[in-house]
Amino acid sequence: MIPFNEDVINAKYSILHGGSPSEAETKAWKPVEILIDHFKSADKYLISLPMWNFGIPYKLKHYIDILVQPGYTFSFSPDEGYKGLVTGKPVTVVYARGGAYQSGSETEGLDFQKKYMELFLGFIGFTDIKSVVAEPMLMTTHEDKKKTIDSAKELARSIAAHY
Ligand SMILES: Cc1cc2nc3c(=O)[nH]c(=O)nc-3n(C[C@H](O)[C@H](O)[C@H](O)COP(=O)(O)O)c2cc1C
Repeated sequence: MIPFNEDVINAKYSILHGGSPSEAETKAWKPVEILIDHFKSADKYLISLPMWNFGIPYKLKHYIDILVQPGYTFSFSPDEGYKGLVTGKPVTVVYARGGAYQSGSETEGLDFQKKYMELFLGFIGFTDIKSVVAEPMLMTTHEDKKKTIDSAKELARSIAAHY
């Protein structure tokens, strides 16, 4: 994964402030543009992730930190505020969790996995966001886990049928 080092950070802020990045910064920024182009070239998206410490795994967060860049995946203007630039495409997100965090439950507030993914996807422009939640994957019986996985698969298949 692309390091988020001094040259990348300086390139980011230089572009943000309308400056001209140095030669080293331009070179460091190129892989960021390639990763963003690759992401934006898809016409539909499938993301699958576990919950880690109530949030998302750090490698996915690293990917998001590289991907979310002004002028590439979102824009900002004083008149219009923030606008996502990845528009008109569907995304399905499959969430696995050891525990259970369904809405209305006592643990709902601990879910920074789905909440964060929906914030990030909405921020860069997605409006057609579907989810498949598989929970609880731990501390459950083998039979209940199988039932949960089967119903998650069924939902995933019905979403896939419309893709
Ligand atoms: C590092 C790590 C942190 C985890 N943190 C949580 C957590 O905060 N809440 C939770 O419900 N499950 C947590 N889990 C359990 C996973 O979300 C769960 O096992 C899920 O089904 C992931 O699938 P996998 O283990 O097949 O990758 C964690 C698992 C790992 C490895």
